[in-house]
Amino acid sequence: MDDRPATRSSAAGPIVLIAAIALVAIVAFAFTAGWLAPQRVTPAKLVNALAPPGGPALGYRRNHAKGICFTGTFESTGAAAALSKAPMFAAGSYAAMGRFNLGTADPKAADPTVRVRGVGLRVVAPDGSEWRTAMIDAPFFAVSTPQAFYGLLQALGRKDDPNAMKSFIAANPEFGAFAKWISTTPMTASFAEERFNSLDSFLFTNASGNTSTVRWSFVPVAKPELLSADDLKQRGPDFLATDIAQRVAAAPQRWNLVVTVANPGDPSADPSKPWPDDRRTVTAGTLVVTGIQQEADGPCRDVNFDPTVLPAGMHVSDDPFPAARSAAYAVSFDRRTAEDKYYPHTQAGGNGQ
Ligand code: HEM
Repeated sequence: MDDRPATRSSAAGPIVLIAAIALVAIVAFAFTAGWLAPQRVTPAKLVNALAPPGGPALGYRRNHAKGICFTGTFESTGAAAALSKAPMFAAGSYAAMGRFNLGTADPKAADPTVRVRGVGLRVVAPDGSEWRTAMIDAPFFAVSTPQAFYGLLQALGRKDDPNAMKSFIAANPEFGAFAKWISTTPMTASFAEERFNSLDSFLFTNASGNTSTVRWSFVPVAKPELLSADDLKQRGPDFLATDIAQRVAAAPQRWNLVVTVANPGDPSADPSKPWPDDRRTVTAGTLVVTGIQQEADGPCRDVNFDPTVLPAGMHVSDDPFPAARSAAYAVSFDRRTAEDKYYPHTQAGGNGQ
């Protein structure tokens, strides 16, 4: 009896299966890369759009590229345990580290020229779980969606087209409030005087399983000194790093963590929309900064302050930004770590401070 047909069909089966698996992988890759929908905003497109005209500064964060690292503790009052079972909200002291920074892709930008200041923060609980967050000093974000943020970066990049920003603002009127904040709010004299805001909304779940929609801010204990345009002209290009290093050397610097709880119906999916001032707040504890670390080779360089790295008891909400940010920060992290040879590893090698 000739058994060849049976042999042929049993060899074809695995080949068809392998081809099908390869096809699925190729389609999945193409989908993820955005090839199937060229108009889709991908993490790589967002990161590319952040680059200045001359290209990105290799080895550096693709945004908030200039900064200085710190270490300290988060001293929890225990008051936020009613909102979240996050281990760092139980009363106690937790290891913290982070990075004060400027909202620019240029690591050589002069401090007086950059209005948006930020902080990345990591708080670690004894069980090893982490709360990472990256906040800015603006009271609300520039735009409503990650897609609009991409549109903003594109419009800002078209310096040759005077209508690009006009069209962008017409399509994204929420940007008007941010533009006004940028142009009218004086800068403070120090990172120690900045209020840093999550802007994005998150969900806190307590030990009883009750969930609240929240935003948070780190509110400075130091009284803000507001700088006039003339004051700013007197400040050097790196005055913020010099200032914070001097202040921390003299005494620990403190920010109180204020958690704001949304009322039903408050917009949680749009960080350009602040909540009314009368919302309930809980003072969860204090960030105490006790050490300033070198930026160039300090402990912050290889940390990605991804806002979706959250402990039990904290979750992302319907706000679309944290997921988009997480994906973009990962692209930035991968690129900058792969470019390590370009990064100035010592003070002498560059402006890493
Ligand atoms: C879709 C919108 C956004 C995009 C594409 C974006 C992109 C980026 C990128 C690529 C980095 C560098 C990450 C790294 O290499 O580690 C970064 C850092 C940072 N971003 Fe965003 N960002 C967005 C929204 C925001 C918002 C809403 C805030 C504040 C509420 C924020 C605050 C920060 C801060 C403070 C850092 C510096 C963190 C650090 O020191 O490592 N970003 N952003």
